[in-house]
Amino acid sequence: MIQNELRKQFYQLFGRETAVIIRAPGRISLLGAHIDYSEGFVMPAAIEQAVWLAAAPREDGQVVIQAINFEEKGRFQLPSLNVQASSVVGPWLNYPIGVAWALQEAGHTLSGMDVLVISDLPMESGLSSSAAVEMAFVLAWEAVSRLTLTGLEKAQIGQKAENEYLGVGSGIQDQFASVHGLANQLVYLDCRTLEHELICLPDMPKTAVILADSGVRRRLATSNYNSRPEECREATEILKAHLPEIHTLRDVTPDDLELYGHHLPEVLRRRAKHVVEECLRVRAGASALKHGDLAAFGRFIRQSQISSRDHYESSIPELDTLAAAAWQVPGCFGARFGGGGYGGIMQVLVEKTAVSQVQTAMANAFEQEYGRRPPMLVTSIANGAAVVGRKE
Ligand code: GLA
Repeated sequence: MIQNELRKQFYQLFGRETAVIIRAPGRISLLGAHIDYSEGFVMPAAIEQAVWLAAAPREDGQVVIQAINFEEKGRFQLPSLNVQASSVVGPWLNYPIGVAWALQEAGHTLSGMDVLVISDLPMESGLSSSAAVEMAFVLAWEAVSRLTLTGLEKAQIGQKAENEYLGVGSGIQDQFASVHGLANQLVYLDCRTLEHELICLPDMPKTAVILADSGVRRRLATSNYNSRPEECREATEILKAHLPEIHTLRDVTPDDLELYGHHLPEVLRRRAKHVVEECLRVRAGASALKHGDLAAFGRFIRQSQISSRDHYESSIPELDTLAAAAWQVPGCFGARFGGGGYGGIMQVLVEKTAVSQVQTAMANAFEQEYGRRPPMLVTSIANGAAVVGRKE
C-alpha cells in the first residue's frame, strides 16, 4: 500500500519512476536507559512504525527532498556541503545533510538523488525518528551510489551525523536497532565490543507493546540529554584516581561504588549508580528472556524506570504517572519511557488480553492529573531497515 502510494506520488512530483524504496523503522528501548554512551549494554527492538523513502539517482549531484508529513522541501548540492545549511533549510533537512556529510567524510562518493519521504513514526517522542531518517538516507545513498556498507557501518554513519553534525552526544543504540532489528526479536547489544545477539521475546503472539504519548515534546539537542554523557565522563575521571583500570562507568562494579562512591559529588554518585545497576539489569534481563521469564524481565523494566526517575533524573512527572498507572494492572509486565526521556512516550509491555485495561488505567490517571487523554497506539516488534522495492 505505502509502496504504491510512494511510487505514484514520486511520479507526480518528479515526472519519473522510483528507482528504490527503503523502509527504516523506529525503535523501542525496553532496557538499558542512557547506557550506550557509557559503552554498556542495551536491549532495543525495531518496531512497525517507520520512515519510508522513495529515491532515484540524479546526474547533476543535486539532492532534492520532499517530505510529505513534515511539509518540508529542500535542495542541496553534492559534494560541497554548506555547513551553515541549518540556517538555509528547515531543521528536519539537517538529518539528510548530516548523513551526506558523514558518508563523504568516510570517503564515499555520493550520487545526487530525488527523494520523497513519508512516515508513520511519531516525531520527538522517544521512538527515534531521527535515527530512522538517518538510516533511510544511508540506505538510499548506498543503493543509488552503489556503495556496500555493513550494518555496523550504517549505524556508525548515523551516529557520526548525530554527534558531529547535529551536535547531539548520543550513543549508537538507535541507529543500530533500526538497522539490525528483526521481527519478534530484541537486539541485545554490547556497546563496547559492538557485538550483538538477537533474543526472542517469549510468548510473542500473547504479548503487546503499548506506546502512550505524554504529549511533552523533546529534542535531544535542546533537552538535558547532552549533560548526562558529560556527567558520566566526569564521574569516570574522579573514580579513575582510585580505579585506574576503568575507561567508562561500564567498568565500575557495585562494590567499587560502595568503596569509592563517596569521592563523587552527590549528583554524580546517583548518575553512576544508575549506570552501574542498569548494566547489570540489562544482562539479567537478557538471561531472564532466554529462560522465558517475562515476569522477571518486566520487573527489570520497572526498576529501570524508577532508577531513571530517581538517580538519572531523565523522567518527568507525566511519564511517572503513566508508568505507575500501568504497573497497577495485572497483565502489565513493565513500563518505562522511550529513548532519552524528558518527555515523549511510555512503553508498556503487556499481556495482549490486558491491553485495553492498561490503556484505560493510564488514560484515567493521566486525565485526572493533566486534564487530557494521552494518545496511544499498540505496536509490534518488526524487521530492521532494508530496501523493500526496486524499479519494476
Ligand atoms: C536517545 C539516544 C540514544 C540513547 C537513548 C537513552 O535515544 O539517541 O543513543 O542514549 O537516548 O538510552
